[in-house]
Amino acid sequence: MGTTRQVQRDGDKYIIAAFSSTVNIQVAKEYRTDMITTLPLLHQGKVRDCFAVGDDHMLMVASDRLSAFDVVLPDPIPGKGEMLTRISHYWFALTEGIVANHLSGLSVADVIDDAELAAALEPRSMVVKRLKPLPLEAIVRGYIIGSGWKDYQRTGEVCGIPLPAGLVQADRLPEILFTPSTKAAAGEHDENVSFEHIVGLVGADMANRVRDVSIELFRAARDHSEQRGIIIADTKFEFGLDENGVLTLMDEVLTPDSSRFWPADSYQPGSSPPSYDKQFVRDYLETLDWDKTAPGPRLPQEVIDVTRDKYRDVCAKLIS
Ligand SMILES: Nc1ncnc2c1ncn2[C@@H]1O[C@H](COP(=O)(O)OP(=O)(O)OP(=O)(O)O)[C@@H](O)[C@H]1O
Ligand SMILES: [Mg+2]
Repeated sequence: MGTTRQVQRDGDKYIIAAFSSTVNIQVAKEYRTDMITTLPLLHQGKVRDCFAVGDDHMLMVASDRLSAFDVVLPDPIPGKGEMLTRISHYWFALTEGIVANHLSGLSVADVIDDAELAAALEPRSMVVKRLKPLPLEAIVRGYIIGSGWKDYQRTGEVCGIPLPAGLVQADRLPEILFTPSTKAAAGEHDENVSFEHIVGLVGADMANRVRDVSIELFRAARDHSEQRGIIIADTKFEFGLDENGVLTLMDEVLTPDSSRFWPADSYQPGSSPPSYDKQFVRDYLETLDWDKTAPGPRLPQEVIDVTRDKYRDVCAKLIS
């Protein structure tokens, strides 16, 4: 029998308690990132809490927080952080022949003495090499949708890349496109930029390498997931440099938070496909009179449940 999880909001922290579904007692699996007292908090992102481990490593804990339109919503999606972490691990393993990644090989128990807390954190955490992040988001598109589709309708191009006439919404692109953006400061939105802009930021050699690696990662992942009935429409990679200046894949990889996943069996060019990502929540939010600034609105239980099921579904399809 599995376990069910109860999630409560406690100030800015989440308490995730796992309850055995067979016996009615709480098992000792509870985490709160404010229980991590031995490591300094480096950064609290929209989804992850990052703690310094010495000078050169970092503990990244993926919470169940969900952000939409760059605002963190008050209701977590139970188990989301764990699912994101499992999916990222899966892709890191599958792509390690293409590019180095930030996994250190250390487990949470190697960096946190409290064994119970370490065990509770492990499924949603990674101990990673602390890299020097490249100041860009490596966006890759295999299908024309979202802002790319809007761009194309207006200009016949996506982020300055000309495309053949006559494409319809959600069409597969003739070639995989690399359409980078800047990494915006907290509270601001990322901005699409040209490849030349990226050359100006990191130099021509590094820009070429980031583009080539991103496209290769996307191609490998796309081929793999299509066999599992999932279309990866687009995604975002993040890279950093290690102490030797080696390009290294970091952050989360090919998750529903960083990608658009569509079920292949209902894919139909010409309309926006249903998706496994948080588009469902975005669609719900669009029905509200909300100005898309913090604080975000509470989600109805049904929206939380459907979103959790979508994350679960893609997790099961992709990695089992
Ligand atoms: N190996 C690494 N070394 C250094 N930084 C990393 C590494 N992996 C991920 N990061 C950074 O850690 C943060 C992860 O937190 P999270 O994904 O919650 O942030 P975010 O809300 O997406 O972005 P941000 O808060 O930076 O605007 C990101 O800023 C990401 O760029
Ligand atoms: Mg992020």
